[in-house]
Amino acid sequence: MEEEDEYRRKERLALLVIVVLASLAVASLLVAFSYYCYIRNKVAKRFENHKGFGNEDKGAFSNLQVASSKGLQVFTFKQLHSATGGFSKSNVVGKGGFGLVYRGVLHDGRKVAIKFMDEAGKQGAEEFKMEVELLSRLCSPYLLALLGYCSDNNHKLLVYEFMANGGLQEHLYPGSGPNAPSMKLDWETRLRIALEAAKGLEYLHEHISPPVIHRDFKSSNILLDKYFHAKVSDFGLAKLGSDKAGGYVSTRVLGTQGYVAPEYALTGHLTTKSDVYSYGVVLLELLTGRVPVDMKRPSGEGVLVSWALPQLTDREQVVQIMDPALEGQYSMKEVIQVAAIAAMCVQPEADYRPLMADVVQSLVPLVKIHRSTSKVGSSSSFHATKSPTPQSSKARQVEDMHKLSP
Ligand SMILES: Nc1ncnc2c1ncn2[C@@H]1O[C@H](COP(=O)(O)OP(=O)(O)OP(=O)(O)O)[C@@H](O)[C@H]1O
Ligand SMILES: [Mg+2]
Repeated sequence: MEEEDEYRRKERLALLVIVVLASLAVASLLVAFSYYCYIRNKVAKRFENHKGFGNEDKGAFSNLQVASSKGLQVFTFKQLHSATGGFSKSNVVGKGGFGLVYRGVLHDGRKVAIKFMDEAGKQGAEEFKMEVELLSRLCSPYLLALLGYCSDNNHKLLVYEFMANGGLQEHLYPGSGPNAPSMKLDWETRLRIALEAAKGLEYLHEHISPPVIHRDFKSSNILLDKYFHAKVSDFGLAKLGSDKAGGYVSTRVLGTQGYVAPEYALTGHLTTKSDVYSYGVVLLELLTGRVPVDMKRPSGEGVLVSWALPQLTDREQVVQIMDPALEGQYSMKEVIQVAAIAAMCVQPEADYRPLMADVVQSLVPLVKIHRSTSKVGSSSSFHATKSPTPQSSKARQVEDMHKLSP
């Protein structure tokens, strides 16, 4: 009888051990499976964040013939949060259609500008994608460099090289920006900015294929470094142009009031000549110190192009429209030449406008390269000048206009 009890006890004990071991095995299987799910989820999320710029979306710009495609750094939100002191108000340097722009310092000491996209609107998200896709493929000393981006937990941020003197418009119309400069730009600096911005557009139009049309070229999209050297920025609205001579792309009209070429505004037909028109408007801003549209001005003076164009080729009148802040700084010859270029760029007929290469050719002789410190900035970091572009018929037209000028 006792033997039987003993046998039953042992049997129960064995059963208990088996149940415990089985439960442990099931529990460890469950833990292993949850861990597997966690890792899988994490990898999927990471892939999701990156796929906008991976194979799937090579899209529009994948066939651009450029020298190389540079790798952009992918930042975490935390890294950019700490670079900007928690996106502190004191680090805000500007605000545009995309959102606030912050000054920041990366952990390696690099100074950067960080654009924080407002609530993910569709247009904003498209601009973000365009900017990243395009700028990772382009490289010119006259285009603002995009260093990286962050697309984390619905936050979209763009990280650029920092341009210590901000947008050109802040220096043409002091008092309008948050860090308003006290002195207006001098003539020499304006000429150099005009040349460098022209080289930025020339690169987009003529050094890559198919050409890239900026579509939002304006004074606030020309940024100035600490030596007042200029770079073209903001490619969110950029479009690939047509490769065919005389060809155009049809697209909805986007851009900024006062800068949009008339034929594009009317028909939606976009060509590189639309950028040339916008460039002409910026040249007029540099000459006159006036904004493109100001309806508070007397009748007939509200739209810069309409007011200035008839006076640009008249030697007597052209001095009347010059920015009074430039008095005594320019020679008559220089003013007549720059005014002639501006007049051609803002021609209502797109075919009469020059190519950006022609504009560059016409401006080069006017820009004196100074090694010493000028009134507003020095040229000590002047970018290497590209090999000259062959002179085209339009360049000769600009020169012919110079010759016609008294
Ligand atoms: N890389 C940068 N370095 C320094 N400041 C910058 C930089 N990028 C932008 N800023 C500042 O932020 C301001 C706003 O720039 P942003 O491009 O967002 O708007 P915008 O050009 O004025 O208008 P839009 O949104 O229509 O392009 C600029 O005028 C400039 O002062
Ligand atoms: Mg801008």
